[in-house]
Amino acid sequence: MADQRVVGVGLISVGWMGKVHSRAYANLPVFYPELGIRPRLVMAADTAPERAQYAVDVLGFERGTTDYHDVLADPEIEVVSICAPNFLHAQIARDVAEAGKAFWLEKPAGRSADETQTIADAAEKAGVVSAVGFNYRNTPAIEYARQLVAEGKLGRITNVRGAFFADYSADPRGALSWRFRRELAGSGVLGDLMGHLIDLTHYVVGPISEVTAATSTVYTERPEMPMGSGTHFAVVENGEMKPVENEDYASMLVRYPSNDGASPAIGTLEASRVANGPRAEYGLEVYGTQGSLRWDFERMNELQLALNSAPHVGYTTIMAGPDFGDFSVFQPGAGTPMGYDDLKTIEAKKFLLAYLGQDSQHADIKDGLAANRVVSAAEASAESGRWERVEPVEGTSAQQAVGS
Ligand SMILES: NC(=O)c1ccc[n+]([C@@H]2O[C@H](COP(=O)([O-])OP(=O)(O)OC[C@H]3O[C@@H](n4cnc5c(N)ncnc54)[C@H](O)[C@@H]3O)[C@@H](O)[C@H]2O)c1
Repeated sequence: MADQRVVGVGLISVGWMGKVHSRAYANLPVFYPELGIRPRLVMAADTAPERAQYAVDVLGFERGTTDYHDVLADPEIEVVSICAPNFLHAQIARDVAEAGKAFWLEKPAGRSADETQTIADAAEKAGVVSAVGFNYRNTPAIEYARQLVAEGKLGRITNVRGAFFADYSADPRGALSWRFRRELAGSGVLGDLMGHLIDLTHYVVGPISEVTAATSTVYTERPEMPMGSGTHFAVVENGEMKPVENEDYASMLVRYPSNDGASPAIGTLEASRVANGPRAEYGLEVYGTQGSLRWDFERMNELQLALNSAPHVGYTTIMAGPDFGDFSVFQPGAGTPMGYDDLKTIEAKKFLLAYLGQDSQHADIKDGLAANRVVSAAEASAESGRWERVEPVEGTSAQQAVGS
């Protein structure tokens, strides 16, 4: 057994993501014992006292509090998970950085690119490690897809198609949680689901340079649900109707510039939180001159692959297995599936390795900023009706596949 490095962990907000982060820390030494990293769950904060108490009683934290400033002040806490609603991300992340602690921030980093820039600046000034919760890039099938693209197995990438379609608010009685209010969430499905898709294409294909977008709000009113109760999947009967302030659906046409003068690859990316049919159908398709691949989160352990080296076959379905990413850490053989929590365990590993000074290719605040800049440009385009340029972010983990 390797020497054990105990890392004191603080958690801010104990909603869905707060629970998932807590389980990821707890799972880390079980799945990666050879790393010798032992997270110690020191303190969890939530303004809902019963959630702070749940963190102690069920999730295994030593202490609970209703004031996140207690987490900042605790010298035993080295790293902090920030799982609060979006409107609190920038303030809390800046506070955590100023307290000299590393942070793992849920997506979207800030409500806008400008807000995320303030987080990136604070992290840089304080010299602390950051991570952003773009979990889908940790999927072993996606890691394998990224490798195929990087090795040129698909040839030059010509176009990308992605659709992140969920039904969590397809019911018009679906709760008006903080996600539907501009002040609390920022954008709607653009920040919530499109941000994930943008990051996934950045990771597998390369950075987006231009965008044009259209958005719509399908249900303009919903029954209100108080903060700190239920989940965003909740349906509220006979609740007071309040206005929805951001978009339910977004569609974007984007360009991935080439690094060698070839034409940019074109992407068509869509996201919806009101789709009837798909439950969490998060699909990515990448087309190249030598082959194509496609993946969908609802079948996240599968990758469909078509290569010109095996012509007239079309797509072949490959099951993720021990050769794909971190698969073998979780299951010994192909066909036995991994799940969503496992992606967060991988994310916790990458974050803590980065915190301990190792390069883990994790998504950090720069990747969060890159996604935010595309979302902000898409919002501007939906308003102006024009193509909008996306200012590049240096030093992200995006890969450049177009023209390679
Ligand atoms: N990576 C992913 O796949 C994924 C999935 C879901 C949510 N998210 C992101 O995670 C974040 C949280 O989402 P969620 O679904 O867990 O939300 P949630 O509504 O389930 O939980 C939010 C929690 O924050 C608490 N809170 C509110 N104000 C607070 C304050 N001042 N201090 C401390 N706690 C406070 C609430 O009481 C609640 O318990 C969001 O930014 C969301 O976009 C990411």
